[in-house]
Amino acid sequence: MRVLVTGGAGYIGSHTAVELLEAGHDVVVVDNLCNGSEVALQRIEEITGKGVDFARADIRDREAMDAVFAKHDIDAVIHFAGLKAVGESVGKPLAYYENNVNGTLVLCQAMEAAGVRRIVFSSSATVYGSEAPVPYVETTPRGTTSNPYGTSKAMVEKLLEDLVVADERWSVTLLRYFNPIGAHPSGKIGEDPRGIPNNLMPFIAQVAVGRRDELTIFGNDYETADGTCERDYLHVVDLAVGHLKALEVAGDPGISVYNLGTGQGISVLEMVNSFTRVTDVPVPYRFGARRAGDLPAFWADASKARKELGWVAEKTLDDMMTDTWRWQSGNPEGYR
Ligand code: NAD
Ligand code: UD1
Repeated sequence: MRVLVTGGAGYIGSHTAVELLEAGHDVVVVDNLCNGSEVALQRIEEITGKGVDFARADIRDREAMDAVFAKHDIDAVIHFAGLKAVGESVGKPLAYYENNVNGTLVLCQAMEAAGVRRIVFSSSATVYGSEAPVPYVETTPRGTTSNPYGTSKAMVEKLLEDLVVADERWSVTLLRYFNPIGAHPSGKIGEDPRGIPNNLMPFIAQVAVGRRDELTIFGNDYETADGTCERDYLHVVDLAVGHLKALEVAGDPGISVYNLGTGQGISVLEMVNSFTRVTDVPVPYRFGARRAGDLPAFWADASKARKELGWVAEKTLDDMMTDTWRWQSGNPEGYR
């Protein structure tokens, strides 16, 4: 297949491009580089020994998207491009709806015009909202999202559902990611957040490499085993393979939804301790106040992806730590 990967110069997109190329697919990347790096694309080529077609373009630019579809005979789209900082989205809702919702709208219009009706979308566990019972199951309806980022994901899911209702030729797969972490085992590509990391794993890695003094653990008075929040962390390479499976197995017209997670909750404290145990690098931390909007604990029921896609998260927590550290220690300043 020839696959258009929007946001392919970013964290999950770059890892997915590697898996696609290694499985024999062709990859075309569209990215405006607002949070991605061209170096990541070079590294993909180094890892796989294969070329990536790259168009520096914005998915909201209809002319540019039409040109991409005219130039390449695309079979399917994996759609990662979007903004993803939860806190930032609260202050800049219009930017988030414009990029994530309108961007998807324009992308789908360009796909429709080109006769490409197969899309795999990067959704998030956040669409279950704050009231859903754990573990999250795909049959649970979307809940009330608490920030514009989460709402934009829910809106795009709905938009794509409506598209399938209107035209049964469309094939839509919604992948709801839990907490992707880690890096490619080569150490050549990984997560490279700009500014202060919002997420736990890159923060731990930057403390370990000396870019930050200490980690603040947001709350140790939750009703969990050790008082810190629990999440379902999965290796980004497993997540990337999940996209490959979705593309190869779930290509029928209609809509399908899959959770991609391990099915296991790990606490913040366990994450810090695992990192130090595996890498032998200390991570100074202190306990701070809870972060607004955080849920105590959630993890995936990942059985549907296992049954229907034949996908399971295979890598261990130790792999996630080892690979994060190989990437971070080999690239202390990320791609810069
Ligand atoms: P990322 O920021 O590393 O990658 C996104 C890429 O999209 C970047 O390279 C950015 O430059 C590009 N981009 C953004 N807006 C664009 C636009 N309008 N036109 C063209 N390119 C654009 O993020 P990521 O962690 O790789 O996440 C990829 C997708 O997965 C996002 O949609 C995100 O919301 C979703 N997701 C991520 C997580 C996570 O924990 N990382 C969890 C759930 C869902
Ligand atoms: C966050 C988003 C979620 C998004 C996901 C993508 C919020 C409220 N939720 O989820 O919508 O889909 O990222 O990856 O932002 N932590 C610390 N110290 C830190 C950073 C994090 O203790 O410096 C804790 C958090 O309180 C949380 C856990 O680590 O308990 C994981 O945090 P994070 O990596 O931000 O992921 P989520 O909160 O699950």
